[in-house]
Amino acid sequence: MFEPMRIIVNEETLLLDALGAAFWPAESTLIVSDLHFEKGSSFARRGQMLPPYDTMATLARITDLIARHKPARVIALGDSFHDIDGPGRLPDAARDTLAKFVFQSEWIWIEGNHDPNVPAWLGGKITSEIAIGGLVFRHEPLTSGAQGEIAGHLHPCTTVTRRGHSLRRRCFVSDGARLVMPAFGAYTGGLSVRDAAFAALFGTSYLAYALGGRRVYAVAGDPQAVRRKIMEESQPSIPAMNTVESP
Ligand SMILES: [Fe+2]
Repeated sequence: MFEPMRIIVNEETLLLDALGAAFWPAESTLIVSDLHFEKGSSFARRGQMLPPYDTMATLARITDLIARHKPARVIALGDSFHDIDGPGRLPDAARDTLAKFVFQSEWIWIEGNHDPNVPAWLGGKITSEIAIGGLVFRHEPLTSGAQGEIAGHLHPCTTVTRRGHSLRRRCFVSDGARLVMPAFGAYTGGLSVRDAAFAALFGTSYLAYALGGRRVYAVAGDPQAVRRKIMEESQPSIPAMNTVESP
């Protein structure tokens, strides 16, 4: 049973999906980030062999998300391809699946540092960033002036401890004003939320939402600091915390 976590970002309600995507009901918009299609074949070209099934595995999870949320719009938040030649190496089945996605919805490719030249033949809209309602979508988070920003790039991960075992989980990171998305691609690595890159964006005022098997869990960060920050900034909304427990 799918149980999304509802959070508020810059007064817009988002549902965090345990598959690693966000759905914005008011705009019927599904957001995925850092798909890194064809990472396996990119490594193979350099002599490092990985099973070449990552693109199809990632597409299968997007298919599940589309079936679940039925979005009118999909935003791929940059680094959709692991390298600039990635689109040309897509297997035929992947091209067919992407063509179907682009036909079925308003598909927006945000350009990232790995894929600054998404080819037009893929279809959809290609742009470096886009503002919709109270949110602005770009690949790399800005260090200031980022109210309402939904970004990716950093591949956040956090560590969850349960019954003495530590699990490393991909996660969302938000302070109620902005959101950093987890990487969605099958082979993507991660950067700890304790890394200085996150401190530069959030200080200590953030919550991390870790991906569990069926739901998203608020597991790290400092809720009190987030609330204090929000009070100081006189914002009416705070990130919702449906649950604080380990997956
Ligand atoms: Fe990136």
